[in-house]
Amino acid sequence: MKQESEKKPQARRREFLKQGSALGGLAAIAGVPGLARAQSSGPVKLGLMLPATGTFAQLGSAIENGLKLAIDEKGGKLGGREVEYFKVDDESDPAKATDNVNRLVTRDKVDVLIGTVHSGVALAMVKVAKDTNTILLIPNAGADAATGPLCAPNVFRTSFANSQTGYPMGKVMAERGIKTAVTISWKYAAGEESVAGFKDAFTRGGGKVLKELWLPFPNVEFQPLLTEIAALKPDAVYTFFAGAGAVKFLKDYQAAGLKGRIPLYGSGFLTDGVLEAVGDAAEGVETTLHYADSLDTPKDKTFRLAYVKAYKTQPDVYAVQGYDTGLLLAQAFDKTKGGVDKPALIRAMETATVDSPRGAWHFSKAHNPVQDMYLRKVVGKQNRVVNIAIKQLDYPPADRCKMSS
Ligand code: BEZ
Repeated sequence: MKQESEKKPQARRREFLKQGSALGGLAAIAGVPGLARAQSSGPVKLGLMLPATGTFAQLGSAIENGLKLAIDEKGGKLGGREVEYFKVDDESDPAKATDNVNRLVTRDKVDVLIGTVHSGVALAMVKVAKDTNTILLIPNAGADAATGPLCAPNVFRTSFANSQTGYPMGKVMAERGIKTAVTISWKYAAGEESVAGFKDAFTRGGGKVLKELWLPFPNVEFQPLLTEIAALKPDAVYTFFAGAGAVKFLKDYQAAGLKGRIPLYGSGFLTDGVLEAVGDAAEGVETTLHYADSLDTPKDKTFRLAYVKAYKTQPDVYAVQGYDTGLLLAQAFDKTKGGVDKPALIRAMETATVDSPRGAWHFSKAHNPVQDMYLRKVVGKQNRVVNIAIKQLDYPPADRCKMSS
């Protein structure tokens, strides 16, 4: 018999929806007690696989805070049912990812999987989710393939695709007349795809990438590469780093004497969630991302006040992504009245509009957010909005995903 992940996407989707409907239907008609109970009573089981240790630990914590805030705003319930959380620290380690996700699916039997931050870990989650027909919501990891060639009816991303956050910066820099750039990042899916998105728009606009510089994740020995940047003398530098690695990079860039000499740009992960830790090393740095600290919309103001009240710290993009995951779940479970019938939940999510602090967004056919991308500039302790770099960006092209609708 073919493994689930080997079947053609359309066949897999048809089978997935058929199985779900048949089980739900049978339970309802025949009153099968076990199945009926699983559908509508007892707590909804959410499996959280996030980093609690390592470079991305703070990102994992902000996502969990945001998620729980949205669910707490619904009285701690989804579709009227209590929520039970099951947690695994994935350590941002792809080598441990399959065992970790299997713990949540097989041992804890969660209804919905939520994770994670690191693209390599998320790809292992996608495989297990597809093989076991478990609904997976990705609240950060941008691995393009998750909503590209590996897309599936039961896999949704509430954050961004890696190349989606780099592409707008390439456009902005080319429009500014910047002619040459050097890129520097970690050599794994997130860095490679962020740089690829940047390069796509930058070279289309007439820019030239002089050199791509790489380090293995989560290495932070930036010094030799910064020396190389100084020697190459590009007009600008584009980078993807995040979390503790971004803090070290910003400080090292300043210490190497490059700040103010060679303008530094990046996807917004470079400066999000790190401004308390970097002193003035990030001041003036411009980035593109699907959130900013000064959006000033009623929804964003309410969210920020509630977040600060609950957690005594300012929210960042990761908190928003967690919050939106909670908003999406709340909307979907309201529609199914607490039922965990997968086709019904999937339909509810596919047709949802999420009224987010980042601005309203919806899913593309590939289940990635179609959303506004902001150009932001660091002023003091804020990533302030400069303008919308690209409105409702659906990128990378959704035709890389062969899921039937
Ligand atoms: C990623 O691995 O996809 C990722 C990690 C941190 C921030 C953004 C993306």
